[in-house]
Amino acid sequence: MAMAIDHLILGTWALSDRHWPNQLRSDSIKTIHAALKGGFRHFDTANSYGNGLAEQLLGQQLKRFYASIGRENLSIASKIAIPVDYHGTAKLIEKTLRRMCLTYLDVLYIHWPSSTRPVEPVLDEIMPFVENGRIRSIGLSNFPLSSIERLTSEYPIRYCQFPLSLIWRRSFDSIGSLCKRLNLTAVAYSPLGFGTLSDKHPTIETFSSEDWRRDLYCYKKPYIDVFLTISETLRQSASSIGMAPSAVAVAWCLSKQVDFIIFGARNRQQVEQLVHSLSVQIPEEMYNHLDQLSKELDALVDKDIDNPFFHRW
Ligand SMILES: NC(=O)c1ccc[n+]([C@@H]2O[C@H](COP(=O)([O-])OP(=O)(O)OC[C@H]3O[C@@H](n4cnc5c(N)ncnc54)[C@H](OP(=O)(O)O)[C@@H]3O)[C@@H](O)[C@H]2O)c1
Repeated sequence: MAMAIDHLILGTWALSDRHWPNQLRSDSIKTIHAALKGGFRHFDTANSYGNGLAEQLLGQQLKRFYASIGRENLSIASKIAIPVDYHGTAKLIEKTLRRMCLTYLDVLYIHWPSSTRPVEPVLDEIMPFVENGRIRSIGLSNFPLSSIERLTSEYPIRYCQFPLSLIWRRSFDSIGSLCKRLNLTAVAYSPLGFGTLSDKHPTIETFSSEDWRRDLYCYKKPYIDVFLTISETLRQSASSIGMAPSAVAVAWCLSKQVDFIIFGARNRQQVEQLVHSLSVQIPEEMYNHLDQLSKELDALVDKDIDNPFFHRW
């Protein structure tokens, strides 16, 4: 078993085949095992990933390592949406704990804000779980700055999750400094731009017809030209230091000084490649060039859009 890795979380969205076609259960299991053996101790899931399948798979596999690693040395996070019936919150949490074979969850996030349903009644329903220790910490995911500040003054919120990659840096600077000021743990997700920043997907034709990533904004006009420049720059930069583009993309995120980055992998090799490349330090000039390109892409996105899925709330 390798030494524990700080700052990196294994995400499990892709470990069920909803949204991520042709994902084999056997590969998902090997991915989790490779992460544990490679030193990952932090894991992230959500009750919506595969409609509970990712929670179930992760919980079952982690349990097999409790004897050798110790449950107390793992940090396990999941997420719930704001339910239509607030009183359903307790049921959702119980379901998550049961599916994951857990007596407690380290972090429970509210997955997304809603423009029609306030989050406070859900937080009120979560509080008894915090008080009895079955939820160790509460987190907010994808919430706007103004709500984070207000909710943190009213509830014991400890974590804040948001996207960060070369294709999506919007609000990172402001959220990062807000997290520092409010003493929140800053957790950035999708450092590989959902996989678009490896050298495998320069165009949408590389995805199968059911793959949701075909709809990502970076493959459309007016964003595609800057995206292709980012891809090519990553490829050349990585080759000049003998690394994979994905390693440079993750190194760029790590240099942003967030507390954690949630990385996604679909097979053992992807985890091993990432672990192997963790010590990459990218030269300042390379970092600055990539940083500039990420700003150029951001400048093309409408000011009202606050997430890379272009959801409007
Ligand atoms: N809070 C939220 O709303 C939210 C939203 C999104 C994600 N998340 C969390 O963040 C986690 C990570 O997100 P993500 O999966 O979108 O992130 P990502 O790390 O940006 O992309 C992961 C994808 O990149 C590809 N990849 C991984 N390692 C690679 C390697 N070494 N070489 C080449 N390609 C590689 C794989 O896809 P292919 O092999 O198919 O190319 C993999 O599924 C999720 O699992 C989830 O836990 C949270």
